[in-house]
Amino acid sequence: MNTKLILHNITKVYEDGDHSVSVLDGINLRVKAGEFVAVVGPSGSGKSTFLSIAGALLSPTSGTIIVGDYEISRLSPHKMNEVRLNNIGFIFQSSNLIPYLTVRDQLLLISELANNRSKHSEQKADELLERLGMKHRMNYYPEQLSGGERQRVAIARALMNEPELILADEPTASLDAERGRDVVQLLAHEVKLYQKAAIMVTHDKRVLDLCDRIVYMENGRLIEK
Ligand SMILES: Nc1ncnc2c1ncn2[C@@H]1O[C@H](COP(=O)(O)OP(=O)(O)O)[C@@H](O)[C@H]1O
Ligand SMILES: [Mg+2]
Repeated sequence: MNTKLILHNITKVYEDGDHSVSVLDGINLRVKAGEFVAVVGPSGSGKSTFLSIAGALLSPTSGTIIVGDYEISRLSPHKMNEVRLNNIGFIFQSSNLIPYLTVRDQLLLISELANNRSKHSEQKADELLERLGMKHRMNYYPEQLSGGERQRVAIARALMNEPELILADEPTASLDAERGRDVVQLLAHEVKLYQKAAIMVTHDKRVLDLCDRIVYMENGRLIEK
């Protein structure tokens, strides 16, 4: 099967003091290898909640999540961490790089955390930085990079452990239009090249044509139009 992510009947209710807020109300989605899906919807509609659940960062109230061969909801917290590190790559709005590590070390740290560090990781890091046009910056620190360059490092980092699934939450929000488009174009290219399944939450209409499919978050559900 080349379906890499299955979300089945996902609900999420946040308990907020004495009242509860229902944010997701029966989300269903399947993403195949090599497929780049955009999720759009108004602010506060639950897009980040949905992405955190798909990435095993947050538990749903009910429903099933399958990433590759793993049913996430059935795993122990330890195993879930392992699956998250090895099978899922995240890209956030601000690149969340570690200030005191060089570009290259940001990538190597990710292998290390997953106990994958080897000669191969160094090759992999160099290869990714080369393809994302960041090789000449590999010994730079994040504060020496532009916003677009930081997001390219974040993409390289997300790909480092060769995950099956890439999740990006508004990756262009801190970039101008042109650089935002460049970054998404690179991401789309990597998704095809390595046959990743990818989901990008965005309200940047200018990058939607780079995705294979657009789904809309409406009233707690994902709708294809
Ligand atoms: N930890 C939380 N506790 C309570 N409510 C939350 C929490 N996180 C998000 N929410 C609420 O859930 C709704 C959806 O939030 P979010 O998933 O961040 O939406 P989006 O990413 O589409 O802007 C919002 O109303 C938000 O206030
Ligand atoms: Mg959000």
